[in-house]
Amino acid sequence: MTKKSITILGIESSCDDTSAAVIKDAKILSNIVANQDVHQEYGGVVPELASRAHQQNIVPVVNQALKIANISKDQLDAIAFTRGPGLMGSLLVGTSFAKSFSLALGIPLIDVNHMQGHIMAHFIDEGQEMPNFPFLCLTVSGGHTQIVLVKEHFEMDVIGETIDDAAGEAFDKSAKLLGLHYPGGPLIDKYAKEGNPKAFKFTKPRVGDLEFSFSGLKSNILQLIKREERKDADFIENNLIDLCASIQLTIIEILLEKIDNAVKKTGIRQIAIAGGVSANSGLRKALIQRENTHNWKVFIPKFEYCTDNAAMIAIVGYYKYQNQDFADSSVTATARMKI
Ligand code: KG4
Ligand code: ZN
Repeated sequence: MTKKSITILGIESSCDDTSAAVIKDAKILSNIVANQDVHQEYGGVVPELASRAHQQNIVPVVNQALKIANISKDQLDAIAFTRGPGLMGSLLVGTSFAKSFSLALGIPLIDVNHMQGHIMAHFIDEGQEMPNFPFLCLTVSGGHTQIVLVKEHFEMDVIGETIDDAAGEAFDKSAKLLGLHYPGGPLIDKYAKEGNPKAFKFTKPRVGDLEFSFSGLKSNILQLIKREERKDADFIENNLIDLCASIQLTIIEILLEKIDNAVKKTGIRQIAIAGGVSANSGLRKALIQRENTHNWKVFIPKFEYCTDNAAMIAIVGYYKYQNQDFADSSVTATARMKI
């Protein structure tokens, strides 16, 4: 007898992207993401505005995901949703929607840890090679920067972490100092391509082998801007691409140094990256280079699975479904949640 295939709706609403995806076994049938432009001018996500936008977007986004996947509600086997970590008001929208939808359809509900989702995106079946266990995953997003030792699908140990800002935050805060809108990461990436990464030098933090720190970089940039603007009022404008390239290189070097340390410590040479910052072209390129220079095997997610998306929530749902690991209706959104 052939095994029955499993179809799951994934829902993600932890920060400022409302997303729904349909997965059939480990293959994605649709993955719809509604970004929220309302935050651009504020230099960061405004929680109140985010939850309001999620409320407006959730129903159309889910409908669109089902439509594109050509799946009707009664063909779904389960609903998987992001329980945390994230912004409480944002998480509540996805959580309440998923709970009521699963109740109405009489199908299981599966709660998903957002950070596990970022890592598990590597197991979405796109015909690519998947990492073998154990592997190291550098998980770099707007809210987190971690080195995770992944021993099994659901056995993950955080072996290194930031002591202040996350890598994505470092990109966004630096971009804000340069007058770029939120989220600044993709803009720094874009301008950096044309600039000289050695034009400006920033100091690196002195922290533990597997610890990250990015708050010093922000003060470093601010000092440079203040000093240079005394000589040239249009300093930023006249040096934007070089500033972006130099800031990006500094962040990448900090990240790489820590992965090097983790490789030394664990002896594991299979390296994956995950989270919004893994979309950064400089980081992707630097890692690919290390396949040759450091004899690593590197796993880089497709662009659409780097930044927040529901496909990564749906793949966790698929694996949890196989373990019959379901949530009951008393499950609540959880702003702080460990891997
Ligand atoms: O994973 P994600 O979508 O949301 C969180 O879970 O936080 O990550 C968002 C972060 C933002 O800080 C954004 O600036 C950064 O990822 N990001 C990038 C790039 N694309 C997104 N940072 C650098 N280069 C990029 N190309
Ligand atoms: Zn994320």
